[in-house]
Amino acid sequence: MKALLCQNFGNAQSLSLKEVATPSFADNQVLISVKACGVNFPDNLIIQGKYQFKPVLPFAPGGEVSGVITALGSKVTQFKIGDRVLALCGWGGFAEQVAVEANRVFPIPDKMDWIMAAGTLYNYGTSYYALKQKADVKIGETVLVLGAAGGVGLAAVELAKKMGAIVIACASSEEKLEICKAKGADFIINYKTEDLKEQIKKLTANKGVDIIFDTVGGEFAEPSIRSMAWNGRYLVVGFASGTIPQLPFNLALLKGCSVIGIFWGSFAEKEPVESYKNMTEIVQWLLTGKLKQHIFKIYSLENAADALQDLNDQKVIGKAIVKVGNWEDDAIVSASTLSNKKQITDGDNVESPVVFKDKTELKKNIGRSLGKTDWFTISQERINQFAEATLDYQWVHIDVEKAQSFLPGGKTIAHGYLTMSLASQFFYQLISIEKLNSFINYGVNKARFISPVQVGSEIRMTAQISEVEEMPNGNVKLFLNCSIEIKGQEKPAYVAEVISMLF
Ligand SMILES: NC(=O)c1ccc[n+]([C@@H]2O[C@H](COP(=O)([O-])OP(=O)(O)OC[C@H]3O[C@@H](n4cnc5c(N)ncnc54)[C@H](OP(=O)(O)O)[C@@H]3O)[C@@H](O)[C@H]2O)c1
Repeated sequence: MKALLCQNFGNAQSLSLKEVATPSFADNQVLISVKACGVNFPDNLIIQGKYQFKPVLPFAPGGEVSGVITALGSKVTQFKIGDRVLALCGWGGFAEQVAVEANRVFPIPDKMDWIMAAGTLYNYGTSYYALKQKADVKIGETVLVLGAAGGVGLAAVELAKKMGAIVIACASSEEKLEICKAKGADFIINYKTEDLKEQIKKLTANKGVDIIFDTVGGEFAEPSIRSMAWNGRYLVVGFASGTIPQLPFNLALLKGCSVIGIFWGSFAEKEPVESYKNMTEIVQWLLTGKLKQHIFKIYSLENAADALQDLNDQKVIGKAIVKVGNWEDDAIVSASTLSNKKQITDGDNVESPVVFKDKTELKKNIGRSLGKTDWFTISQERINQFAEATLDYQWVHIDVEKAQSFLPGGKTIAHGYLTMSLASQFFYQLISIEKLNSFINYGVNKARFISPVQVGSEIRMTAQISEVEEMPNGNVKLFLNCSIEIKGQEKPAYVAEVISMLF
């Protein structure tokens, strides 16, 4: 196979393309046929022998790949040959095949294309962990991102905006800042030409920023922490400038702020369940177009050294990707195309129930519509039964005469929880899993009762698989975006993400 090898520690131009043997793999590893490899900051450090891990020479750099599993170690049970995956290999990704520990490999949906997949883990994984688990960003808080046009920085801009923050992006050129704006930054600062502290003061009306997301370190750290609002959080993410800042501790005292170290790799290792949950959310947002990487350029394996050089020269905005091999994009469709496709968002032409062989099949179907149920009529008898069962005898539900005088349309209305409780019986029409012991309702997220359901109305449910979470005990948590529609009305009765536990 071909690999771009580092034979002696040095710069990008010292790498050379060689024909080498297919890597051997251990019992706990899988062999991946690489389709694409993300280019990341540590790759340049690794080839110079300056990173915390020093691979044995010769080796190929490239720490984050997407591809297909072609062989399995004897102890690997969670994957099969042919699975589409992304993986954190550390190095070895600038090659046609790479061996990776199975616990650093993640399955990806069919709809996710190779380029998108190869740019997902490192940037979004780091920034989401920092903003969610460590900073606990709240809606309306101000997030300052240093190195905002870099891979991790731009992902932080996008995610912070998505989390409801006000984002100030800082970078060294107008071109970079324009991209930050396009990704959602509310304000921009060119820290090469403008006074960082003064600009923050101006933009926040002297209040300061709540969160600092620092991927650069060096000279920008002190003016940033001096511009911190009370109870702020300084996220120490990286030192791309090459200088680890020495901060006077009195600033943390005076600002009442926390200085928080971010080490995403350790988080993924020590808190795999939380990390997996983050990744599932990120993949889902990418597939539905709620996040979209800025791909700076796609390089061939033959030109992968240029990708490292461009990154080193601070030319890359967002993500650089190396495409390995001459494949046509065999992912079903890219996320941007998908989000425009009708069948993803509504249930026309879906034959119900949608049948799955077992619960593991669900993961490949995130984003899939389960279609629509038949119409179901809400009778007064059903409303009364609900009142009797729950001892909730509010007159709006059961007093037919009073309703005639006082309620719009002269009709009683179903209890909101009655409508909600029908979700489980609707599921039987929409989804069938052949090999399954139990399918229980487990909870709801983001439930909203939108329109009242009058007696005699016909209602039905539409649903779409929004997320699938594999639990450490082998059970599966299924998240379905559900909407209960009322015949003849535009606004639904009820919308929610319904959570079920499958075992
Ligand atoms: N803590 C963690 O878990 C974790 C995870 C991932 C990455 N990181 C670290 O985060 C940092 C950024 O990673 P990244 O992938 O976003 O890198 P990147 O894509 O290369 O972006 C780094 C940004 O830093 C700025 N920069 C300032 N001085 C620089 C210099 N001398 N050389 C290169 N860039 C410089 C550049 O923006 P301007 O030109 O606009 O200044 C550049 O866009 C790295 O130190 C990386 O090791 C940490």
